[in-house]
Amino acid sequence: MADNIYPVSTLPRSAREELLGQHGMMIWFTGLSGSGKSTVALGVERALHERGILCRVLDGDNIRTGINNNLGFSPEDRRENIRRIAEVGKLFVDTGIVTLAAFVSPTNEYRQLARDIIGADDFFEVYVSTPLEECERRDVKGLYARARRGEVKDFTGISAPFEAPLHPALTIDTSKQTLEESVRQVMALIIP
Ligand code: ADX
Repeated sequence: MADNIYPVSTLPRSAREELLGQHGMMIWFTGLSGSGKSTVALGVERALHERGILCRVLDGDNIRTGINNNLGFSPEDRRENIRRIAEVGKLFVDTGIVTLAAFVSPTNEYRQLARDIIGADDFFEVYVSTPLEECERRDVKGLYARARRGEVKDFTGISAPFEAPLHPALTIDTSKQTLEESVRQVMALIIP
């Protein structure tokens, strides 16, 4: 922790939200790799944009090639990954932006950390519960096959744990419902 730091007072969040005519919030998608988190987040992004609502998607593969390109998949690195994403997400939310974060975020502890950083009032957890068998069948990136061969270690769902959220605001299974239906359900969370 840095010493001798004196944060400046910026304009209040309400001033930015008034300017934009919307409220900031965090929609946090959690689920296995290949479960459909990013696909749904991108669908919601498009739907929000069409309605004139400013939003921003933060996605695992993008963040991990940028701000978090020094992090791997050990428990410590995953925790730090989530901590940084939550801190960045908090800035977006505080700017009045509807923020959509799509990260495996495999444990209740990491997701609680994100919730604590962002603030429970602004944090909506969406569990993309698509079963492992379906994610593995899709294997869009070929990572499940590689993990099964032991070429990718600590792979979530295969050789590293995934804990289902205890009280998600919404659960969607992309093997049982269409993308349009999933997008509609998330939109209903954002615009009740
Ligand atoms: S998290 O666990 O730290 O939240 P994050 O969402 O950022 O993970 O990144 C997950 C993505 O990284 C997966 O969709 C997959 O493409 C890739 N990946 C590479 N190695 C692993 C691994 N060992 N476990 C899970 N995902 C991995």
